[in-house]
Amino acid sequence: LSRKAVSRYNIFMTNAFKIGIAGLGTVGCGVVEMIQLQKSALLAKTGASIEITAVNARDPHKPRPVDLTEYEWMDDPLKLVQNKDIDCVVELIGGEEGPARDLIEAALDAGKHVITANKALLAHHGYDLGKLAEARNVCLYYEAAVAGGIPVIKALREGFAGNDIQGVYGILNGTCNYILSVMKDTGRDFEDVLQEAQAKGYAETPPDLDVDGYDAAHKLCLLSALAFGVRPDYKNMAISGIRDVSATDITFATELGYRIKLLSIARKSEQGLLQSVEACMVPETRPIARINDVFNAVEIIGDFVGESMLSGRGAGAGPTASAVLSDIIDLATGQRRPVFNAPMSELKEAEWLDPDEQISRFYVRLSVLDRPGVLADISAILRDHDISIESLLQRGRNPGASVPLVLITHEVQQRRIKEASHEIAALKATSDGPHILRIED
Ligand code: NAP
Ligand code: HSE
Repeated sequence: LSRKAVSRYNIFMTNAFKIGIAGLGTVGCGVVEMIQLQKSALLAKTGASIEITAVNARDPHKPRPVDLTEYEWMDDPLKLVQNKDIDCVVELIGGEEGPARDLIEAALDAGKHVITANKALLAHHGYDLGKLAEARNVCLYYEAAVAGGIPVIKALREGFAGNDIQGVYGILNGTCNYILSVMKDTGRDFEDVLQEAQAKGYAETPPDLDVDGYDAAHKLCLLSALAFGVRPDYKNMAISGIRDVSATDITFATELGYRIKLLSIARKSEQGLLQSVEACMVPETRPIARINDVFNAVEIIGDFVGESMLSGRGAGAGPTASAVLSDIIDLATGQRRPVFNAPMSELKEAEWLDPDEQISRFYVRLSVLDRPGVLADISAILRDHDISIESLLQRGRNPGASVPLVLITHEVQQRRIKEASHEIAALKATSDGPHILRIED
């Protein structure tokens, strides 16, 4: 396409934008493949002329699914920084410390733009890296770090920028959503489905980052910063995962008209800002409750736009490469934005609300001895903590042995539910639980 033709579309035309890629695994090879396939279409559509100058990975002899012969191979990722021909370093190694961090710091320090998919690193060091990028007047972009192929960073930075964001609710971990979806559809138990998720390559090995909520928390911390103009703050977040969700909970949830989802929540309330990752019961009528399998979704609530939901694939070579490419195109077409959408000095240090202060309805499941007076003991504890019961379900008859009991409470402070739960667990008649899930209305 001629320069003249491009300028007819009133597109900002840059010279070739030269990138160096470190990390040639799932995402890195996906990015190389996408650039190779889309190069001329991208030039026509956006005016961006993208060239890979050099690449790096650990093992130069490893077979890879893309042809790398045209690019200079660097044995050390830091050599990408020294190469004067490279405008932007694309970090796809991973890990919150080590070579990924060294590379990003060196590249920013040397005045090169950086693109990364590394949510763990940004959650822990995003604030310092943002300051470094700002000081060197370069960009640090990370669309691929949150929810893979869903352009949620762009949505918060640009599409919803005119709104005061009230809340962001995400299904941000594909592995957990897959496990919960299969448990619901088949009645199978957590451990069993987890093994399947690992066999399919969804879950990490070991899978703790996924199933204990840390991966979702890394992502949420970036969304909170963008949504509320605060410093990314991974330390001040309540994080729990899905290990304690049982097939029984899922059966009860379905019967009561809910789905259980690992929700990443950042929201404003009169009491303050809150960020948490937890398994919640979500009314089945809510759009986010219908996001299944490995899919991710983000619901954004703005004062003018109202509720808006984006969904798509959150992981894998294609969706993640698509997100990396969108950052490359932005930089290649001259779009420059602050790392967290505001000068670093404007980012406030949030005073996060203790999640135990939040007020919600709760689902409480326990196993109790099937004998007269047990319910009265439980009701007395709830009464003493000023907890009102909305509904109660007891299934089966098993005199002298245990039966499941499910309570749904009216709105109550989370702290009080926890306190009452300790007392109920200590009753002689309680053989299992209580297992508690917040109802995210
Ligand atoms: P991966 O498949 O494990 O690839 C990692 C790459 O980094 C490999 O090419 C490896 O080299 C290279 N590497 C490892 N240690 C290195 C070192 N010391 N020096 C140079 N290169 C080194 O990882 P991935 O799944 O592509 O993930 C990359 C990043 O994207 C991570 O931050 C991840 O969190 C993020 N991400 C991934 C997904 C996804 O779906 N996979 C989605 C969103 C975000 P060799 O190939 O030679 O071993
Ligand atoms: N393990 C992550 C997930 C990969 O399951 O969502 C994408 O970040």
